[in-house]
Amino acid sequence: MKTPLAYGIDFGTSNSSISVAYEDEAVLVPLGADGDDVMPSIIYLDSTRQQLAGHAAVRQFLVAGSGTGVRLMSAVKSFLADDSWHGTRAPWGSELRPADIVAVLFRELKRQADAYCGADVKRAVLGHPVFFVGAEGKHWERLNDLAKERLKEAAKLAGFNEVSLVEESTAALASEDYVPGIIMALDFGGGTFDVSIMSTDNAEQRRVLASRGVAVGGERFNELLFDGFVAESLGLTREYANKFGKPLAVPESLRKFRSLDGALRMVSEQATHDALQFVIHLKGGQAIKVVDEIIYGGHTYAFHKEVEAAKIALSTSARSTVDFHRRHVDVKASVDRKSFELLIAPNLDRVESAVDAALTEAGISAGDVNLVVRTGGSSQVPAFVSRMSSKFGAPKVEQRDALATVALGLGLEAIGVWG
Ligand SMILES: Nc1ncnc2c1ncn2[C@@H]1O[C@H](COP(=O)(O)OP(=O)(O)OP(=O)(O)O)[C@@H](O)[C@H]1O
Ligand SMILES: [Mg+2]
Repeated sequence: MKTPLAYGIDFGTSNSSISVAYEDEAVLVPLGADGDDVMPSIIYLDSTRQQLAGHAAVRQFLVAGSGTGVRLMSAVKSFLADDSWHGTRAPWGSELRPADIVAVLFRELKRQADAYCGADVKRAVLGHPVFFVGAEGKHWERLNDLAKERLKEAAKLAGFNEVSLVEESTAALASEDYVPGIIMALDFGGGTFDVSIMSTDNAEQRRVLASRGVAVGGERFNELLFDGFVAESLGLTREYANKFGKPLAVPESLRKFRSLDGALRMVSEQATHDALQFVIHLKGGQAIKVVDEIIYGGHTYAFHKEVEAAKIALSTSARSTVDFHRRHVDVKASVDRKSFELLIAPNLDRVESAVDAALTEAGISAGDVNLVVRTGGSSQVPAFVSRMSSKFGAPKVEQRDALATVALGLGLEAIGVWG
């Protein structure tokens, strides 16, 4: 049996994965009962102090449903660079700091990887985006460092005593065979889009020429699809009237239902119930009752997965539908790729600007790049693919495994550190 050197951990906004680094190769660890490449970056906490992550977290939430004693968290990575975010109060009353929350996920990855390779591995290379969501403006560097410190601390809490950090998009290039010249990775995930440009003077020597990123990702696309096609059928866009006929907009606290993480926060906040009841009793307010049924029927996670599935279907079809039916819940909305592309176009402009900025930083133009590899779930969005194909020439742009490339690359980077 080979001795593992370390793990490569890709903690993503939407999905997380882990690879084992051996002296001569990196291997992806199959996760969950089905041996998936990734597990959802979801954390479950409840008043019995139960702390679960990944598949087990989702499964338990579907059983336990809603309630003040239950908390399901998603997209935690997007808050790591927020210096006003100090964590959350657990359902059992303790304060959990950001690192404590991420540690729940890291522990689960480590537990499954340790079981897979039959060892207690204490070294890890952690991936990170070029710029964390929120690390912008005058203090971007301090905020980015804060997020990295929180990651490192979480890894320590999970039992790793040697930790090294590598940019995710750089890791995405680690498994590329030697190509002379300049290669580039475009990693388009759930929270961020990241670019790395590398020069490969010879097979051994690779140099990072530039890396850039922007806080645009698939979670944002889910929100835009929700706003554009779904919000109306849930009564979230219309104006209501009080008994004097005065028009009232939907309270801001209910608008956060548009994202999975916002909706999951609503599940455990008492204010949600009050705000919903307030609207339900306004003139026309029955329209919003379906949101109440989704939240208190325990369907919040499943509903948002259905919205996401409609988006993912648009990558292969011109049309799809959000079709969600439960007791007292009947939501049906048609979505189409053309309209969706109009909604996401400003975000794709920002993605393209990040690519241009990376090219400028590297002192090259698009024509100088020999190979462009795409990875990350959102790299399959057709409008993105066609923009990159026009920029670099379609034959130079190649798709790599959307979900496993970064984790495997981080494992290969670990061989460089400890091999
Ligand atoms: N075929 C597809 N078309 C469009 N989007 C997709 C497709 N498959 C997955 N996605 C989206 O990709 C995102 C997840 O991608 P990925 O797992 O690469 O992100 P992540 O690594 O968790 O996030 P990040 O790296 O930004 O922190 C989700 O928003 C998901 O909806
Ligand atoms: Mg990723």
